[in-house]
Amino acid sequence: MFYLICKYKQIITNYPIFGVEIFVIMKKYFAFQWHITDQCDQRCRHCYIFADRNHKICETKWQNLTQTLDNIVDMSHRMNRLPYLYITGGDPILHPRFWDLLQLIHSKYIPFTLMGNPFHLDLDVCEKMYSLGCQKYQLSLDGLRHTHDHFRKSGSFDLTLQKIPIIKASGIRCSIMTTVSEDNIAEIPDLIDVIVENKVDVWSFARYCPTDYKSVNNQGIAPLAYRDFLDKCWAKFTKYKDSKTTFNLKEHLWTLYLYEEGWWKIPQSADTYTIYGGCHCGDCHFTITADGRLMACRRFDSDVGSYDQNMYEVFYGKKMNYYRQYDQFEKCQRCELLRFCRGCPAVSYGYSGSYYAPDPQCWKAV
Ligand SMILES: C[S@@+](CC[C@H](N)C(=O)[O-])C[C@H]1O[C@@H](n2cnc3c(N)ncnc32)[C@H](O)[C@@H]1O
Ligand code: SF4
Ligand code: SF4
Repeated sequence: MFYLICKYKQIITNYPIFGVEIFVIMKKYFAFQWHITDQCDQRCRHCYIFADRNHKICETKWQNLTQTLDNIVDMSHRMNRLPYLYITGGDPILHPRFWDLLQLIHSKYIPFTLMGNPFHLDLDVCEKMYSLGCQKYQLSLDGLRHTHDHFRKSGSFDLTLQKIPIIKASGIRCSIMTTVSEDNIAEIPDLIDVIVENKVDVWSFARYCPTDYKSVNNQGIAPLAYRDFLDKCWAKFTKYKDSKTTFNLKEHLWTLYLYEEGWWKIPQSADTYTIYGGCHCGDCHFTITADGRLMACRRFDSDVGSYDQNMYEVFYGKKMNYYRQYDQFEKCQRCELLRFCRGCPAVSYGYSGSYYAPDPQCWKAV
């Protein structure tokens, strides 16, 4: 056995090579959600980019893309982390220098996922993306046909399903993201059947974040209705446990659900001072927007700097420190799951204007 041990240990994989198990302890990843353009063929009703009807379409200039990539590499190096890019838009393929950017990223051996639309994909395009290092392509499905098309665009649902086998045939893993709200929650368990039938590699969901808390006059999905929803999803996951689809438990309140159901326990070795899980904001995530802003998270108003500042310094700066005050979580600070959950602070912000307000869907009494 060979051990390659780096400073930040997070991902442990074992590769059987020539029958020998090689355990690799890798550096912890730092995720960059990189919006390179706002250009898009859809105007989805819930989209944070177009929430402001007067939004001016932005597209990052080539010189700024290369400068940002250098900044990403420098920051990751100084933090002793591995960069992982989530390149997105809008639809990133609509950027005129999209292929040049992929080539540049490939030359630096940086792994990436593309998060885009189905409209401009065919086998040649996907194979080219794969040859340039794309590991995963994330599409969206926001309900069954009628609901999805109502949110997005007529014909979008069927087209998305058509592109799944094409992405997979190219060698790229296909992932589907669903944005859950009061308007589609009832359909999601049936959507899981569609996901599995279509052999999607990875499915995950996140909650809708209102884009203007001042005009929101409710708290969204009722907490116990949300728990019931997780229960229904869990039943489907169990039914499909031998399918080809991996169900990613990205939604933070899964921790509470699994804890209550006895599927997950607080590790005995866990100390009281370490943050072990929950939202990555302030820990290993940055968003870069097409107009060059650095944000703690794209889902709420969280500007912390701009692409031409040194990202390492911004990350350790005063503005980012605001998002690392774990004892400020109004409700979670009294909860034994503080170090593992904290709900979704972007959802809290969307309903209240406060990052540290209680998660409106958390049903736990503390
Ligand atoms: C901005 S889109 C870019 C990629 C691609 N155009 C798409 O729609 O999948 C990335 C993800 O953000 C989600 N999203 C957009 N607005 C949101 C909001 N207000 N709250 C939560 N998720 C949102 C979309 O549904 C999508 O899954
Ligand atoms: S397709 Fe994606 S980027 Fe375009 S409007 Fe919809 S959510 Fe926003
Ligand atoms: S109170 Fe906070 S940490 Fe506890 S379960 Fe709810 S969201 Fe999670």
